[in-house]
Amino acid sequence: MFSIIFTLIFPINCATQIDIFIESQCPDTVRLFKRMKALLDYEQIYQYVEFNFIPFGKGNEKLVINQGYEFNCQHGNKECYGNLIDSCVLEQLDQIDQLRYLTCIHQEKQQNEELINLSLKKCVQNQECVYERSLKCALSKFGNYLQHKAAKYTLAQNLVEIPWININGQHIPEFDKKFKQNPLKAICEQIDCKTIKVNY
Ligand SMILES: *[C@@H]1O[C@H](CO)[C@@H](O)[C@H](O)[C@H]1NC(C)=O
Repeated sequence: MFSIIFTLIFPINCATQIDIFIESQCPDTVRLFKRMKALLDYEQIYQYVEFNFIPFGKGNEKLVINQGYEFNCQHGNKECYGNLIDSCVLEQLDQIDQLRYLTCIHQEKQQNEELINLSLKKCVQNQECVYERSLKCALSKFGNYLQHKAAKYTLAQNLVEIPWININGQHIPEFDKKFKQNPLKAICEQIDCKTIKVNY
């Protein structure tokens, strides 16, 4: 009821929300970020679109008493570590820097923990504090909580593949497919990109 009244009084255009479920060791996630790189040239798009990246993927979790959550990830422990680092970094960055970071880290080597640490350093280059905080976060209860949050949200989707894209809370296979092929184009079919000069 409240939301109906709210919408009547404030008919604002809320940003289109796009949830993107990803996984640190997944080749299709790498491919998606290669394509999403094009969005970095159009910061104005962030007026209309809000991305929510959820780094967990096809895994599961269990609560271990006094230890927090334990995770199982599709591509093993190294993936769990990569997802955890992603959760910790995303928490600290604004939207455009999140995409900068993700397009970077998914082009770097992530085959083991050491390489993930090195790639992290490279991808938050000018933000020494983000690097330090993310490593600390990865070892902390807060990091464990962030992954639990990502796991819970991911498990609620019944997703069949990664990446998995939702728009305004809904999974529309056609949009998912279009977005993976050409993110910029898929977005501009949703919002009015006319005020933004877009090349795709
Ligand atoms: C990566 O960083 C974490 C967090 O600081 C640390 O515990 C771990 O030893 C590092 N891994 C390697 C292989 O250097």
